[in-house]
Amino acid sequence: MYDYFLGGKNNFAADRETAEKALQSWGTVRTAARENRAFLGRAVRFLVAEAGIRQFLDIGTGLPSANNVHEVAQGLVPSCRVVYVDNDPIVLAHARALLTSSPEGRTAYIQADLREPEKILGDPVTRQTLDFTQPIGLMLVAVLHFVPDQDQPRRIVDTLLDALPAGSYLAATHVTAEHDPDTLAGAGRAYQERGLTGQIRTADEFAEVAFRGLDMVDPGLTLVSEWRPRGAGPRPMASEVNTYGGVGRKP
Ligand SMILES: C[S@@+](CC[C@H](N)C(=O)[O-])C[C@H]1O[C@@H](n2cnc3c(N)ncnc32)[C@H](O)[C@@H]1O
Repeated sequence: MYDYFLGGKNNFAADRETAEKALQSWGTVRTAARENRAFLGRAVRFLVAEAGIRQFLDIGTGLPSANNVHEVAQGLVPSCRVVYVDNDPIVLAHARALLTSSPEGRTAYIQADLREPEKILGDPVTRQTLDFTQPIGLMLVAVLHFVPDQDQPRRIVDTLLDALPAGSYLAATHVTAEHDPDTLAGAGRAYQERGLTGQIRTADEFAEVAFRGLDMVDPGLTLVSEWRPRGAGPRPMASEVNTYGGVGRKP
């Protein structure tokens, strides 16, 4: 569905059908998807160029698209390493496109579930690709809203962050209903009717799930479109974007 929203070609009739249902309610969801994807690129750029991060654990990767994490990171520093993780078998089918590493760097892919962080951390591919004695950029971009409270998202994030050394970062985004509750309720129903579980959260709830105990990078937790925007062009309204993002540093 996200691929469909972004204008990609790797989607199926069932994806398009549910995506169209969500679009009937949240007419600007494509704007949200584009802004979220643009945040991902800016966050990776910040992490490499300003924070000195050279390795990434990207969970909830999605289908390969423009500006995958390794493309942005290795475009700046070719030796960057990335482990991609998604639980959707369709992503696995397209993973080759995620594995086009620069010769100096490395990319790897594992099919695994965010709700089982120990498996992700313990996977031999993760251990062989990333050096856990050096800071890592953990990416949880547009994935935590697929983890309802009953699946203990805070415990999941704690488990992941505990495994990373001080000086590591978390970049995360999350859908919110704070700016347009009716629209988001309708979109949420479209997902739920197709068995996609999740939870829309407020800024405070998202901050508690993702960023508790981290030092927030300026400008803190904002709409993804307001996080270090490039250029001075007009930006979409909050009620179109409905997605928060932020980057925090593990002290
Ligand atoms: C909206 S896409 C985000 C893609 C990319 N991170 C971005 O923001 O551009 C969400 C992705 O998270 C994946 N996902 C959802 N729940 C997951 C889980 N429990 N474990 C791993 N991946 C999950 C989906 O399969 C999908 O590919």
